Amino acid sequence: MTQSPTTPTGYLHGYSEEERERLHRQARFLEPMVHDRLPFRRRRRLLEVGSGVGAQTEILLRHFPEIHVTGVEINDAQIAEARRYLATVPWAQANGNPRYEIIKMDATRLDLDPESFDAAFLCWILEHVGEPARVLSEVRRVLQPGAPVVCNEVLNATFFIDPYSPDTLRYWMAFNDHQLSVGGDPFVGAKLGNLLQSVGFRDVTTDVKTFHLDNRAPASSSVSRGTRTPSSSIRSSRPERGPGDRGHAGFRPGFAPRTRRLARPPSRD
Ligand SMILES: C[S@@+](CC[C@H](N)C(=O)[O-])C[C@H]1O[C@@H](n2cnc3c(N)ncnc32)[C@H](O)[C@@H]1O
Repeated sequence: MTQSPTTPTGYLHGYSEEERERLHRQARFLEPMVHDRLPFRRRRRLLEVGSGVGAQTEILLRHFPEIHVTGVEINDAQIAEARRYLATVPWAQANGNPRYEIIKMDATRLDLDPESFDAAFLCWILEHVGEPARVLSEVRRVLQPGAPVVCNEVLNATFFIDPYSPDTLRYWMAFNDHQLSVGGDPFVGAKLGNLLQSVGFRDVTTDVKTFHLDNRAPASSSVSRGTRTPSSSIRSSRPERGPGDRGHAGFRPGFAPRTRRLARPPSRD
């Protein structure tokens, strides 16, 4: 079945209140990984594609005090939450004016002027669109020559959990199959380089980000229950232990490279 990109009914995570909260928690939990050394220091106009509830927008505005963020997002409830949230963030305003705008728009058809941005950031959106190359092509069109784009994505093939749990792994494969069946791609992280190159970006670099949670950091493990795809697996596989049952080390979830790619459109001079 072909899915219209303007119809988000097949969107994997849905648009519940719980999901919106998850996006906020996820962004905070993974901030050290996702926002590590982003190349936006001298940039002024950043395009954030699939800006969701504004959770990444807040972090971008905090890290880069000179930047203005234009977030594009397809879903009204996400947009409303992003606007509500960002209005409460002190560093999202400057001299009484917002340093951001959130626009309702389909990422595959950006109604934005060519070369109107000097940076772009995409986080966990390409896994949800049927035509990621089309989104990246649109991004390239609206970027100035030489402007950096950062794409952060999943590579769900790398999930591992201990103790070995065939049921959890079957669940995980079913989850991935479901994402594919609704038009997404849980393995898009591995394809970012090819995708960026295919639409004309150059100087593509890859950063493979992993996280590994174990009993050395139980606090992190509990925080991780609020994160994205691994959370379902961790929750569903967490062993129930009674008092005095000390023979087991507990659970050791490991997970999930988010593959990040940095690229620039070739300079046209
Ligand atoms: C997993 S969320 C990530 C949100 C945000 N980037 C973050 O990291 O918190 C993906 C978002 O992309 C949006 N989205 C999906 N398809 C889209 C499209 N074609 N155009 C614009 N936004 C889209 C969804 O509505 C959702 O809010």
